[in-house]
Amino acid sequence: MSKNNIINVVCFDHEIGRIGYDEHQNKSFFQYNPTFLKSGLHPNLFPLVIKRIAQTQVFSQFNNDTFKNLPPMFADSLPDTFGNVIFKTWLEAKGIDKINVLEQLAYVSNRGMGALEYQPSIHIPRNTSIDIDAIINILKQVLDSKSSISDKALDSKSLLNIFKMGSSAGGMQPKILIAENKKTGKIIPGDVEYSNAYHHYLVKLHLTTEEAYNKEIIEYTYYLTATALGIRMMPSKLIDNRHFATLRYDRQEGQKVHSLTASGITGWDFKNPAVSSYERLFDLANFLKLPHAEVDELFARMVFNLVFANADDHLKNHAFTYDPKNNQWHLAPAYDITYALNPLLTYKRSSRALSINNKRNDITLADILDIAHQNTIKNPKAIIDRTIAATAVWEQQAQQNNIPDYIIENIKKNLWFG
Ligand SMILES: Nc1ncnc2c1ncn2[C@@H]1O[C@H](COP(=O)(O)OP(=O)(O)O)[C@@H](O)[C@H]1O
Ligand SMILES: [Mg+2]
Repeated sequence: MSKNNIINVVCFDHEIGRIGYDEHQNKSFFQYNPTFLKSGLHPNLFPLVIKRIAQTQVFSQFNNDTFKNLPPMFADSLPDTFGNVIFKTWLEAKGIDKINVLEQLAYVSNRGMGALEYQPSIHIPRNTSIDIDAIINILKQVLDSKSSISDKALDSKSLLNIFKMGSSAGGMQPKILIAENKKTGKIIPGDVEYSNAYHHYLVKLHLTTEEAYNKEIIEYTYYLTATALGIRMMPSKLIDNRHFATLRYDRQEGQKVHSLTASGITGWDFKNPAVSSYERLFDLANFLKLPHAEVDELFARMVFNLVFANADDHLKNHAFTYDPKNNQWHLAPAYDITYALNPLLTYKRSSRALSINNKRNDITLADILDIAHQNTIKNPKAIIDRTIAATAVWEQQAQQNNIPDYIIENIKKNLWFG
């Protein structure tokens, strides 16, 4: 294999191992660094898929768009829909035609979500300050599919900023990573910086002025309601009353937190309905030996997502974080909790990303109680009742945040009342 078909994986300053990639055979390889193996450190870093053995392991089963032939925990470091558009624009602007996934990981370098880093990295200059409005203008151009890259008139500094801030996080919506100086309030790109001198935010941007409603404000009202119910989420706020900013759970007290989505930790493709169920998620929670309070929390999130019609609760919208001191996994704070349908439409029937008791629609109280029973959840009926009652809290929040009445009414029609 040629040199650029191998990349090193680093985590918590340790060289964990090497990934190899064979484009022609659609295969990848992983081999642990013997020194890391011998150290006995972090034995549960990758609890599934990769075995903790000295031999090279071959992966050919992840031949799909989600994992791109990589072991899923590394594919988790690659961008999704939005980040890929940014990546592509950046490469086009630099005149680079096509790169393979390992080269893409080299660009991710030390800028990825979570704590996994890739070396050797492709150097990208650091810069000092940014302006969100300027970023939005550039993003609008980047996302304007009608114009080609050459007529987008993007100067290299702005493109660099967009690339640094917009290409790491997963998901579909336009978003950037920023770091806000705790003392001065100054905002810099949040890709590389992770010190405790900054607040680290993931910001979901509201780019359009045309829509009659603001998706990010809806997400904010969902955040307010979910946290009022005791669902654990990172502190979040609106910026300029239109962008949804959430503190990053993978940057804590000047440290990177190793985190993987449910898809990345297991190799269950979030786009494959056959593996997308709450039952699997609960099995995973039990396999990871999460404290029971976190299994209860997962149940509360499932109920919330059902009641509040967050049907896009797929396996990349659930994540886990690793505590290296205790070698213990935890349920990450909830994120991407929002009304997932188009609030301008009314739906007779909508389908959920994660099935509940083998159903994607027409879910009944009995279905939820079955799941509660299987997972020894205490007092599930009280959780369900409390969540349904919180629809009134949400309505107040929605009014206070100036979501138009007809949008509120339309959303209410799709909520679940048992
Ligand atoms: N508060 C957070 N801290 C760290 N990572 C986050 C946070 N919120 C989201 N993410 C990561 O960023 C990805 C995209 O965010 P998400 O809110 O799901 O956006 P989208 O609506 O585009 O799917 C998630 O899949 C998750 O891995
Ligand atoms: Mg998402």
